[in-house]
Amino acid sequence: MDDFITGLPKLELHLHLEGTLEPALMLRLAARNGLTLPWTEAATLKAAYQFDSLQSFLDLYYQGCDVLRQEQDFFDLTWAYLQRCASEQVVHVEVFFDPQAHTSRGVPFETVLAGIEAALLRGEGELGISYRLIMSFLRHLGEEAALTALAEADPWLDRIHGIGLDSSELGYPPEQFTRLFARAKALGLGLVAHAGEEGPADYIWQAIRQLGVRRIDHGVRCADDSDLLRFLADTRLPLTVCPLSNVRLGVFPSMANHNVLTLLEQGLCVTINSDDPAYFGGYMDANMRALVEALGASREQLCRLSLNAVEASWLNLAAKARLTRSILGYAACQGVSLS
Ligand code: HPA
Ligand code: ZN
Repeated sequence: MDDFITGLPKLELHLHLEGTLEPALMLRLAARNGLTLPWTEAATLKAAYQFDSLQSFLDLYYQGCDVLRQEQDFFDLTWAYLQRCASEQVVHVEVFFDPQAHTSRGVPFETVLAGIEAALLRGEGELGISYRLIMSFLRHLGEEAALTALAEADPWLDRIHGIGLDSSELGYPPEQFTRLFARAKALGLGLVAHAGEEGPADYIWQAIRQLGVRRIDHGVRCADDSDLLRFLADTRLPLTVCPLSNVRLGVFPSMANHNVLTLLEQGLCVTINSDDPAYFGGYMDANMRALVEALGASREQLCRLSLNAVEASWLNLAAKARLTRSILGYAACQGVSLS
């Protein structure tokens, strides 16, 4: 099964680049930038990754971001992630970055974008990994700050494909960001938002109805609302689900309680993603393996999850058709029949 998962062509649609900062790289960048961290060993740093909520994770995540100072740092971060993708047969990525987490520390937007984009372009050329880049806004800083950040990004928007909304969810409902999303929509940007991770199903409705998103990040709390479940099954509006993240942040008490396969069987367009893999214990492969181990996911279900990701992606129709064929071809070679 491990080999089957690694060989399956996969797409990742919910990934925070800053959340791929592995302890060893964090320590190396700190040293390169002359910074002192509370940890000196990768092992002790990794041992600090014990979270009981989204906020407890975010506190460490923003602390980790502080070692990212120069263009080369953002390049190294992104390139390490893409090499990992190549080793796991992840062939297309739609990744987030959090510009406000960097500009608030005095790192220019242009520096962040240049490093990330150079790595993404190299990944496309050398590794054959296509990409979309999503600028995400920190909801705890509020809508005015997000509007300012969007205006500051204006000269570079032709290199960015969409916007997202992340950070602390409870107390920051999507409806607080309607002007931001209307503005981004008018600029022709794609729209996604984190909703229904820790927050209630109503936040998912708000993101759909008031922000106009066509894809929800997380969204697992939709299970609490039967009307919403029906709507998501009927419309196939996708959810980018992150199983290891959900268990590590206490959204589900254990992987055995995770609802992603139930949602899949109810006809929702759910996809599997790694969110912040350096902090949550694994990349795409590890997330799929966890579903097999705890929930008995079948090879057919894993193929359908990958096909859902093609459907949910922002690729054009020709690229979607090509990736669909490659997943169906892989399934056929492996003797998996998809009804
Ligand atoms: N949720 C909300 N904000 C985030 C996350 C997440 O999982 N990762 C990075 N920022
Ligand atoms: Zn996320």
